[in-house]
Amino acid sequence: MSQYPHLRLRRTRATAWSRALHRETVLTPADLIWPVFVTEGKDNVEDIPSLPGVSRGSVDVIAKRAKEAVSLGIPCLALFPNTPAHLRDDTGTEAHNPDNLMCRAIRAIKDACGDDIGLLTDVALDPYTSHGQDGLLDEAGYVENDATVDALVGQALNQASAGADIVAPSDMMDGRIAAIREALEETGHANVQLMAYAAKYASAFYGPFRDAVGSRGLLKGDKKTYQMDPANSDEALREVELDLAEGADSVMVKPGLPYLDIIRRVRDNFEVPVFAYQVSGEYAMIEAAVAAGAGEREALVLETLTSFKRAGTSGVLTYHAPLAAKLLG
Ligand code: PBG
Repeated sequence: MSQYPHLRLRRTRATAWSRALHRETVLTPADLIWPVFVTEGKDNVEDIPSLPGVSRGSVDVIAKRAKEAVSLGIPCLALFPNTPAHLRDDTGTEAHNPDNLMCRAIRAIKDACGDDIGLLTDVALDPYTSHGQDGLLDEAGYVENDATVDALVGQALNQASAGADIVAPSDMMDGRIAAIREALEETGHANVQLMAYAAKYASAFYGPFRDAVGSRGLLKGDKKTYQMDPANSDEALREVELDLAEGADSVMVKPGLPYLDIIRRVRDNFEVPVFAYQVSGEYAMIEAAVAAGAGEREALVLETLTSFKRAGTSGVLTYHAPLAAKLLG
């Protein structure tokens, strides 16, 4: 027997109050992490043409953005430096400088906001190397795993010493979570969290980010020997399992929208906080759609961000964070 007309799923959709009552997924400003790009100078704002609407800011400007984030209810910023070209070298030495852009930004934000906002810092060498790769190269140009892990430990400790709350290795080297966790414990940083970019894919969606941190023109080749093959799904679960075993507090899937299936699988297999990174190319795609008259920005932003929550994330890194927080606040 057909259940129709007794069952009509449209009944609960008929009014706004009823849709609100039956909504399964709720997005709030507290779900958002706002990635920001730091650059040199004072009162300096630089546009990023491939990321329309997003700009780099000098340390003082970023401190103001942090205050804005607090007032919007955004709980965390993710910081990325645009290291001046003359400070980039083969081994990313500047990553270890306690006065580098990242560390100065951390201190300025903590001065301005204290613990009203969390600071997530990216652990990977690409904003500091003259070749744009995330690690150290051997003579053949291969990114050496174990030597890179040693460098990443130094970079993470430098960030933690400056006041980072969450260090987030985005490099995809094997064994880096355990090495960084151990070093943090040994150096009095037991409460610094580790968010592992656990399932990070070798994606075509990172282009505007590489413009923003100034590594696009420097990068030769690709990152396929360390970032994951977009064709793989079981392997993502192995990456997550390893990072959790090594001491990650939370894990990330990146990019976001093309990998919603991975987010859902991770969430179903591990009862841990899962984050998604709606990356620069995804942001640019939405902005391009808006510019072409193909969609409405507010609706596109809220729909895509809600999809991450529906897929099972605890939160989302998104360049649309301030807009979304305003819409949701
Ligand atoms: C660096 C890093 C990248 C992103 C975050 N951290 C780029 C890359 O791996 O090449 C991309 C973020 C984005 O596209 O918004 N390891």
